[in-house]
This record gives sequence, structure tokens and C-alpha cells, in this order.
Amino acid sequence: MSGIPHDHYEPKSDWEKGLHNRLPIIGLLYDTLMIPTPKNLNWMWIWGIVLTFCLALQIVTGIVLVMHYTPHVDLAFASIEHIMRNVEGGHMIRYLHMNGASLFFVAVYAHIFRGLYYGSYKAPREVTWIIGMLIYLLMMGTAFMGYVLPWGQMSFWGATVITGLFGAIPFVGEAIQTWLLGGPAVDNATLNRFFSLHYLMPFLIAGLVVVHIWAFHTTGNNNPTGVEVRRTSKEDAEKDTLPFWPYFVIKDLFALAVILVVFFAIVGFMPNYLGHPDNYIEANPLATPAHIVPEWYFLPFYAILRAFTPDVWLVMFVTWITGGIVTAKFFGVIAMFGAIAVMALAPWLDTSSVRSGRYRPMFKWWFGLLVFDFFVLMWVGAMPAEGIYPIIALIGSIYWFAYFLVLLPLLGVIETPDAQPENIEADFAAKHSKHVDGGSAGSTQPAE
Ligand code: HEM
Repeated sequence: MSGIPHDHYEPKSDWEKGLHNRLPIIGLLYDTLMIPTPKNLNWMWIWGIVLTFCLALQIVTGIVLVMHYTPHVDLAFASIEHIMRNVEGGHMIRYLHMNGASLFFVAVYAHIFRGLYYGSYKAPREVTWIIGMLIYLLMMGTAFMGYVLPWGQMSFWGATVITGLFGAIPFVGEAIQTWLLGGPAVDNATLNRFFSLHYLMPFLIAGLVVVHIWAFHTTGNNNPTGVEVRRTSKEDAEKDTLPFWPYFVIKDLFALAVILVVFFAIVGFMPNYLGHPDNYIEANPLATPAHIVPEWYFLPFYAILRAFTPDVWLVMFVTWITGGIVTAKFFGVIAMFGAIAVMALAPWLDTSSVRSGRYRPMFKWWFGLLVFDFFVLMWVGAMPAEGIYPIIALIGSIYWFAYFLVLLPLLGVIETPDAQPENIEADFAAKHSKHVDGGSAGSTQPAE
């Protein structure tokens, strides 16, 4: 697919020409900022900017925290208390970093579900999607290791439980676990390597974000109709798009400002709301907390991990057929990573020729159920694994897999899609015809 035709940077002065011939950096910035962007993008397209902001916030606050933090089991907890009590503005930096991680995940889930609804993962944007999934995995790794650093009870026991999962891998599990921990149990070596990787990974994420942006700038953005920008001529393309600067920059910054009002209210007034009180108790390998609960953003996948107990017939069957090699614990680990893998495979599992969920009458409902399922899994992941909860987790997990492995391939075949607009301009005009036609004075409402 050829790029969207548009004006490119033309150096004017001799100085500009000189620089351009040696390093076309202004041209690169110009083309990035002035990129033609579908003019019908809705508010679900703001999350990319929020994510970029979060990454920058985490890096900046993280670097300041490191100036006062000590990655040693005897000093880590105390150094955090020192940051909270003695360092000028330290409590604010820490609360920004703690809650910044949560905002990062709110944004990434909104961004992912936006992509799933509007079919942004479909050709030709598969590479953007896969890079996004790699970013998501790195985000999870980074957040997990970061949570270990304050060396509280949840830090220690969360690390013990999660690294213990690797021990469930047949034959080589124990060796991998020891290698990851740097010893037989979570200890100083573990804290040191987690600290090192926690500092490194955000920069890897930043590198992948550049590639992510490069990928969707190559294909052009998707949009709520899923209909591509016309590439037939520059005039046609200009009817479907607006330059990113200033239109979308202002829109995105407005949305970011609104989100930051809520964010700063949480950081200022209820900074520990999303945290676990046990993490204000120093790690004690001799006292296991009553309930080990991960951070909220891990809960849906934690629920899937715990859903496949030894009494589930599928687990029993697989354990039997593999001669006991695949235990229930290992099955859970496969299910947890599999839940993310099936999402990454969405571009190849979805058989529909229509991109946007807006024109897919059956898909819409199943997608709605997937979002609901995600929240149910999040809720049940925080509940103790007893009574009715494992059954709810099992049903929720099965639906998650069924959505990707059964429904996405099937719906493309059995569903009759609604009519799509001919082009983006037509969709835009249908919504904003009063503006476009210079219609009724004073009305700012969309036609819909
Ligand atoms: C640090 C994390 C990330 C950053 C900074 C980021 C940034 C962006 C930005 C700026 C856009 C442009 C449109 C928009 O703002 O929504 C975008 C688009 C996109 N992102 Fe991400 N992203 C991140 C993670 C992810 C993840 C985890 C996925 C899911 C796998 C993903 C999938 C996509 C897709 C498919 C598009 C194309 C949508 C379109 O063409 O409009 N991204 N991303």
C-alpha cells in the first residue's frame, strides 16, 4: 500500500538546505508532525498520547527515585521510607511513580480494546499490533519487577509466587527459577537484578514505541469507520484527513489535561487507594500474608492462571495424556501466557473483511461481552480461590479463549455486515453536516 499523498518539507534558506542535505532531521520532524490523520478520529484515539506521557513520567520520576533508593534487602524498605519522610518532595515523586504505573495500564487497556473494537490490528497494521503486544509484555515485566523494589510483604511474596510459576515448567523449571532469582529463593541477588532490569526496560519500551509509531505512520492511522484514507490523489486524501499538527495535538492535549485532573486528584488525595496495605510492612520470609494479591492490572490474567485447578476435567485429561508432565500449575501458566498470545494473534484469527466493529452487528455484542469478561476476571482475580470464585474464573477464562479462537474466525463467516460509508469524508459529513454545509447558525451539535 502506498503512503498517503501529502506535502513534504521543502528547505528554504541556504542554511536549511545545507542541513537538509547533510541530515534531513527537520524534514523527518515535519513529516511526523504534519502527517495526514483521518479527520473522523474519536476520543478513543487519545490514548496513544496518554501512554507516551506515562512513559515519560515513569522515566523521569523513576530516575529521581533512584537517586535516593538502595537496592539491598537490608536497606531497600528503609530507603523508601527515607524518600517518603526526608527527601524534599520525595513522597510526591513516589506517589506519582506508583500511580503513574496505574494510569499507564488504564491507558494501555483502553488503547488495546480500542484496537480490538475498531479492527486496528487487521492488515496492514499487524506489525503495529505485534510491536504493541511486545510493549505490553515489557510493561508487565517492568511493573512486576518495580513492585518488588520497595521490599514490602507483597513485594516479596508476589515475587515468590510469580517466579515460582517458572518452577512448574517440566524438567527445566527449577533450573530456570534458580537462574531468574540468582539463588534458591527471592533474596538480595533477586532484588539487584530486578532493580537493574526495572531501570533498563522502560528504555527498551521507548525504543519499541518509536518503531510502533513508525509502523502506523507507514500504513496511516486506522479510524472509527475502518475505511482507509483515499490514496487516489492528494486532493482526495486531503478531503479525508487533517494534519496532525495543530488539530490532533490540541485535541490530545485537551484530553490529557482532563485525565491529569483526575490523576492528580488521586495522587494528591488518595495515593494509596490502589496499593495494598501489606506493602507498608517490611518483607518477612517467615510470615506469609493471608492473601497474596497482585496489582489490579495483573488481576485478569492472574484469574486465568488460577482458574485451571486440578479438578477441571480438561486439566485432568491433559495431565493424564501427558503422563503427569503437564500439572495443573503448569497448565495455568500456559493458560495465562496463552491468553495474551491469542490476543496477539487476533490479526490472523479475525476472518471478517470488515475492519470496524461499528458495521458488524453480531461482533458488537460479543465484543461487549469480552469487555465485561475482562472486568469480571479482574474482580474474581482479587477474590480468594475458594467457593464460587474458581468457577466464575473458569467461565471467564473459557470465554476469553472462545472469543479469540472461536468467535473471531466464525463471525467473519456467518455475519452479514452493515453498509460502510464510501469514504471518511462521507462519514465525517454525515456527523458534522451542519458545519460542512455551513448549516444552521449557532448550532455546534453533530447531526447524529
Ligand atoms: C507505551 C505504550 C504505547 C504507546 C506509547 C503507544 C502509542 C501509540 C500512538 C501514539 C498511536 C496513534 C493513535 C492513538 O493515539 O491511539 C498508536 C496506535 C496504535 N497502537 Fe499503540 N502505543 C502503545 C502500546 C500499544 C499496545 C500495547 C498495543 C496493542 C497491542 C498497541 C496497538 C496499537 C495499534 C493497533 C495502533 C494503530 C491504531 C491506528 O492506526 O489508529 N499500542 N499507539
